[in-house]
Amino acid sequence: MAYENIQVSREGPIATITVNRPKALNALNSATLRELLQAVREAADSSRALILTGAGDKAFVAGADISEMAPMTPWSAREFSELGHVLTAMLEDIPCATIAAVNGYALGGGCELALMCDMIIAGDTARFGQPEVNLGIIPGAGGTQRWPRTAGKYVAMETVLTGAPITASRAHELGIANKVVPAEMTVAIAQRVARQLAEKAPLALRMAKEAVLKAFEAPLAEGLMSERKSFYFLFSTDDQKEGMRAFLEKRKAVFKGR
Ligand code: COA
Repeated sequence: MAYENIQVSREGPIATITVNRPKALNALNSATLRELLQAVREAADSSRALILTGAGDKAFVAGADISEMAPMTPWSAREFSELGHVLTAMLEDIPCATIAAVNGYALGGGCELALMCDMIIAGDTARFGQPEVNLGIIPGAGGTQRWPRTAGKYVAMETVLTGAPITASRAHELGIANKVVPAEMTVAIAQRVARQLAEKAPLALRMAKEAVLKAFEAPLAEGLMSERKSFYFLFSTDDQKEGMRAFLEKRKAVFKGR
């Protein structure tokens, strides 16, 4: 499918989706959100790892598109925020690992998008923030719920109430960014991490992702039960046989996702 606001590239099992509106610092309008939904859906079917990034060297995504939002009514804002929620939920649901390569501003919806990825590689110029309060609104794609779950109440309050962005190194200290790298290396390093993830047993990776995400939703006993079920289910797969045999034979495993 041809896209106007994003670019999709592929290297073997790794898909990279680049939000491509650099003149608007890659702000997300509804057309871009729809294209992202389509591209993530396609990547889910055909990839083992998915990288999300932004075009240019200034922004990952500087938030929802303010010029599109400005005239919205509550009802159209509801529909707009629904698109953001569907996209972020899809990023959690898809079986492949997702990596945000944050190469600049990740503000508002851009920050929420990064927080929905499984890992975040931040360039050293990256800035993470929820500036919605400066516009008379609040985050609309999960920010108020995901910040506290990721960084705790007080960091979440500071971020959401002040609207002030934090640096990449502060994000790293808070456990939001997995790595901080030289800005120009952000995508290359995300690709390196993606290649590592793409070599893992796909079903195990998928179930590991589901299990970790469960910790944010379920009571401990339910999460532990779910982990246990996935653990023993994986002993029914060819990949478990292959992984353990390869270890014992001192060779690299070749996983088939079965
Ligand atoms: N929506 C729409 N357009 C946006 C945008 C957004 N979220 N963020 C940036 N842009 C546009 C600007 O309007 C500007 O367009 P123009 O050249 O046609 O005037 C262009 O991107 C460059 O932005 P500019 O503000 O000139 O860059 P800067 O380096 O001075 O500042 C930011 C960068 C990110 C600090 C600033 O653009 C900003 O605060 N953006 C809004 C962030 C935000 O509130 N996001 C949450 C939205 S809910």
